Amino acid sequence: MPAIHYEGNVFPLAENESVLDALLRNGVLAPHSCKAGSCGSCLMRAFEGSIPARAQQGLKESWKAQGYFLPCVCHPASDLSIRAVDASEQVGASIAALDRLSDDVMRVRLQCDAPLEFHAGQYVTVVRENGLARSYSIASLPDAPQLELHVRRVATGRMSAWLHEQARPGDRVSLRGPFGECFYVPGKEDQPLLLVGTGTGLAPLYGVLQDALRHGHRGPIHLVHGALHRRGLYLVDDLRRLGEHHTHFGYVPTVLNGTSSEGLTVGAIDQVVLERFPKLNGWRGFVCGDPDVVKSLKKRLFLSGMASREIHADAFLPSAQAAS
Ligand SMILES: Cc1cc2nc3c(=O)[nH]c(=O)nc-3n(C[C@H](O)[C@H](O)[C@H](O)COP(=O)(O)OP(=O)(O)OC[C@H]3O[C@@H](n4cnc5c(N)ncnc54)[C@H](O)[C@@H]3O)c2cc1C
Ligand code: FES
Repeated sequence: MPAIHYEGNVFPLAENESVLDALLRNGVLAPHSCKAGSCGSCLMRAFEGSIPARAQQGLKESWKAQGYFLPCVCHPASDLSIRAVDASEQVGASIAALDRLSDDVMRVRLQCDAPLEFHAGQYVTVVRENGLARSYSIASLPDAPQLELHVRRVATGRMSAWLHEQARPGDRVSLRGPFGECFYVPGKEDQPLLLVGTGTGLAPLYGVLQDALRHGHRGPIHLVHGALHRRGLYLVDDLRRLGEHHTHFGYVPTVLNGTSSEGLTVGAIDQVVLERFPKLNGWRGFVCGDPDVVKSLKKRLFLSGMASREIHADAFLPSAQAAS
């Protein structure tokens, strides 16, 4: 069996064991969350040995070339020498402001110590001083003075409950990333865009929307934001105002339970999308939020004619273990 060389230790891999699981089994406090290659929290760097392609999937080419990889999905065929990502490879940041956007969504504004290159809609991994790492999508534009995240409070959630209840302006975190392909690429300014998400899936969509508008996107842009109830929707007034200023932007606030009296659409979000947008040939789509909803919407968009290469999705996978 291949072995992992880490800080002077040699950890042989058990059968089918990932590099991350081998490190954790041997007592290494390696940050991680989804354990599925989706969140970037576990990022590490290899300096000797061959990294399987799957362990670098989704990373920037320049990072791949420098040996960065995701140990949670890394099953090397031969020995691998690795090290943790150190402070110089992360960007330090201070919490600048915390404002409640709804009962359970907090807007977290971060002031980065150094410029972070990103596209609105990508995500960063926020690492607390205790090493806990979770990923959050970026709702703000790169030239905004601060990075904006929307964090939903998860009951017993170690990062989200901390951000909602204990964190204060001035508290320090580190950022890894950015990661992800969910962002606006200019070049087809007349293409219709469909942005669909539930809960804080709005964060990346809000980033993509602002980026498309500032790039002068001319084609229609539709944003369908879904929640269980009216109180689960947020930024409703801002989005309605944007719709008044940009006639080619349409906002469809959608609730599963409620009435249409406040201008809301009532129904399951995939059904609403099907009814309003039955033909999506030639469209570009962005789908973010709850993993099951993302999966079902990706299928719906594809079956309605959207090419799979035009569908950009971020599923907010939860952490794999309560103890992670
Ligand atoms: C690519 C990506 C982007 C993301 N972007 C955002 C974002 O913009 N905003 C945002 O609020 N979140 C986002 N998330 C989710 C976020 O990373 C955390 O998983 C979330 O905040 C919960 O972390 P926590 O430490 O508070 O909870 P944990 O301590 O990790 O979880 C506590 C318990 O709740 C369970 N749990 C956690 N989340 C859920 C869930 N959604 N459904 C059911 N059970 C759950 C866990 O399995 C665990 O048992 C994103 C995730 C990914 C992978
Ligand atoms: S990418 Fe490895 S833990 Fe999420």
